[in-house]
Amino acid sequence: MPADVFVLNGVNLRTLGQRRPEVYGTLTLNDIEILLKDAFPAMEFQFRQTDYEGEMVGFIREAAESGGLVINPGAWTHYSYALHDALEAVLVPKVEVHLSNVHVREGWRRHSVVSPAVDAVIAGMGAEGYRAAVAYLQSRRHGS
Ligand code: DQA
Repeated sequence: MPADVFVLNGVNLRTLGQRRPEVYGTLTLNDIEILLKDAFPAMEFQFRQTDYEGEMVGFIREAAESGGLVINPGAWTHYSYALHDALEAVLVPKVEVHLSNVHVREGWRRHSVVSPAVDAVIAGMGAEGYRAAVAYLQSRRHGS
């Protein structure tokens, strides 16, 4: 049984670091990957990003045999029923993460169509939210 944790980043997250740093912070996606690997040296990470919704569905399905998944779907959060359905079909612990606090931003960002298909949601903690999400998956694996 693979112990991997999947960390999946959706549309436009490749530009992290340059894209609206006042909202999303100055760390790049690569910085976040390093931060997680340093914080959880015993864990194996599958750290991915895609701007293609179908490819993200494939990543989610791949995570079906894993120790759990963290997903920041980017703007897909707000309208992708395809990602909702893909997440719903995968029975591992799942955490939705947003760097920004989507609830204090534009009205359309306040609703997530994927949240009903995950176990937990984190928003507004920046990169720290990813670390908290992985800590949660770790605690689920140890049965707490
Ligand atoms: C985001 C919030 C989304 O509304 C936005 O479209 C993103 C990033 C976040 O991490 O805060 O691309 O998911």
